[in-house]
Amino acid sequence: MEIERDLFTIKEASEWATEYLGKNVTNSNIMYLIQYGRIKGIKRNGTTLISRDDLIGYYDSHQDGRKVKWKEQLGKDLNWRLSFEEFKEAETTKHVHRLHPYKGKFIPQLVEYFLDSHTDDFKKEVYFQKGDIVLDPFCGSGTTLIQANELGIHAIGIDISAFNAFMSNIKIEKHSLVDICKENKNITNALRRHYHESNIPKFEAKLTEALNRFNEKYFPSPDFRFQVRSGQIDQDKYGAEKEKIFLEIYTNLTEQYGIDLRIDKDSERFIDKWYLPSIRDEIDYVLQLIEKVENSDTRDVLKLILSRTARSCRATTHADLATLVEPVTKSYYCAKHGKVCRPLFSILSWWERYSDDTVKRLSEFNRLRTDTYQVCLTDDSRTIDIFATLKDVNPEFANLAQEKKIQGIFSSPPYVGMIDYHEQHAYAYEFFGFERKDHLEIGPLVKGQSKLAKDSYVADISKVLVNCKQFLAPDYNVLLVANDKFGLYPVTAENSGMSIVNQYKRPVLNRTEKDKGAYSEIIFHLKGKD
Ligand SMILES: C[S@@+](CC[C@H](N)C(=O)[O-])C[C@H]1O[C@@H](n2cnc3c(N)ncnc32)[C@H](O)[C@@H]1O
Repeated sequence: MEIERDLFTIKEASEWATEYLGKNVTNSNIMYLIQYGRIKGIKRNGTTLISRDDLIGYYDSHQDGRKVKWKEQLGKDLNWRLSFEEFKEAETTKHVHRLHPYKGKFIPQLVEYFLDSHTDDFKKEVYFQKGDIVLDPFCGSGTTLIQANELGIHAIGIDISAFNAFMSNIKIEKHSLVDICKENKNITNALRRHYHESNIPKFEAKLTEALNRFNEKYFPSPDFRFQVRSGQIDQDKYGAEKEKIFLEIYTNLTEQYGIDLRIDKDSERFIDKWYLPSIRDEIDYVLQLIEKVENSDTRDVLKLILSRTARSCRATTHADLATLVEPVTKSYYCAKHGKVCRPLFSILSWWERYSDDTVKRLSEFNRLRTDTYQVCLTDDSRTIDIFATLKDVNPEFANLAQEKKIQGIFSSPPYVGMIDYHEQHAYAYEFFGFERKDHLEIGPLVKGQSKLAKDSYVADISKVLVNCKQFLAPDYNVLLVANDKFGLYPVTAENSGMSIVNQYKRPVLNRTEKDKGAYSEIIFHLKGKD
C-alpha cells in the first residue's frame, strides 16, 4: 500500500516526532495521543495513519502552550533551556541518584550543566575544570559529588544530617559488589524462611484473593475510572461505601489469622507510630542479620537497602507516601489506583526488589566513575574547619585541597521553612541509631517563615558563605540554586562580602517527588567583592 507523503503510520510518526522534538517518542506515546483524542487517527485499509500537520499542530501548541502559561506565571525571563525537559525520568534518576528517596534533590543534569566545560548563549564561561575541587556545603543526597566524579572533578560535601552524609558516601564510594551480593543472598534467604514460618503468607494469600474478587466486581478496570471521569459515579461516595463493605471481610480475616494491627498512634517514636508489628518484626530481624555481617562497608550498603525498604513499608496510604498524614492499618479506598488497597504486612518483596536495584545501580555508576576524590563530611557548614576535618577522613585529599584550594561552590541551600531534613528520614535515625542534630539545621520547616525565621536564615546562610570562603581559591565562583520567593539572597550575598554577578532562572519540570504546579528556581552566581 502506498502511503501519502504527509501521512504517517504509527511507527513513522514516532520516528518523526523523536527527531522533531529531540527526545524519544515511542509508538505507545503516539497511540496514547490518538486514544485520548489529542490527534486524529485516520483509518486506511485497516491501518491507522496520522497527518504530519496534525502532529506539528499538537506538539507546537502543547509545548508553546506550556511555555507561555509558565512564563505568564513566573516571569518572561524564565530560561527554558534549563528546564531539561528533554530528559526522561530514567535519566534524571540515573544510576546511584535513585538509591534512596530524598525530598529536595536537584536533578543531575542541572549540576552537570554548571560543572562541565561547555558554554552556550546563557553560560558564557566555564566555572570548573577537570582536576578542580568543588564544594557543596549543603550536600543532601550527594548529587554534586556524583556528577563531579563523572566529570573528573574532585568534590567535598558537607551536611548536618548524619543520614544524608551516610547516603551520599554510599553512593560515591567503591564497594565490593561480590561481597554485597553474597551477604544479601544469605539475608534474603533467611528472611524468606522467616516469612514462611509466620502466619502472614497464608493470611496474605486469602486477603489478596478476596480483594481481587472484590475489586473486579466493584472497580472493574478501565470501566470504573471512565465512569468516574464522565461523572456517572461520585468516586468519594462510592469509594467510601465499598470501603466499608470490604472492611468487614478484612477484619474477619485479620481475626481469623490472628494478625496484630496494634500501633501506637500517639507515640513520639516514629517506628512505634508508623509500622505494623509484622513489618517491625521483619525489619528488626533483617537488621540483626546485617549487624553480623563482617565487612563494615557491606553492612552500610545493606543498611541503605533496608532503609529504602522501611520507607516503602510505612503504614500509610499510597497517596500519602510523600507526605504522611495518619497511620493506616486497615484496607481503604485508594483514589490513586481506583480500587480498594490494603497495608503491607511483609517487607520481603520490597527488600528483594531494592536489593537487585541497588546492585544494578552501583555497578552502572562503577562503569562511569573517574579516579577522583569525593567525600561528604557530617558537620555544620557555618563552623566546620573543612581542611582539618577532611584530614581525619582522607589525608591525601586534604593535602591536595590545602595545596590547590577549592575553586568554587555548587549547592542548593535549604530554603526558609520548607523541609525538616532530619525528620524526613526519622525511621532511619531510629533503626540505625544515627545522632540527630535537628537544632543545627538551617531554615527548617518547624521554624516557619516568620520575619524572625527569615532573618536568622539570612544570617545563617551568610555565616556558611563566610566560613567556606576561607577555603576557596581567590577567583572563586559560587553557584547557589534557590527558590528565593522572599528575595533573601541579595542581602545574604552582601552580608557575605560577595556580589551577585548573574542569575539563571529555570522552570522546574522534572522534580523527583512531583507536584504539578508552575515552579521556578534561580541559580545565583556570586563572586567575591575583594
Ligand atoms: C536542599 S538540600 C540539598 C539537596 C542536594 N542538592 C541534593 O541534590 O540532594 C539542603 C541540605 O542542607 C542540609 N543542611 C541544613 N542545615 C545545615 C547546616 N547547618 N550545615 C550543613 N548542612 C545543612 C540539610 O540537611 C539538607 O540535606
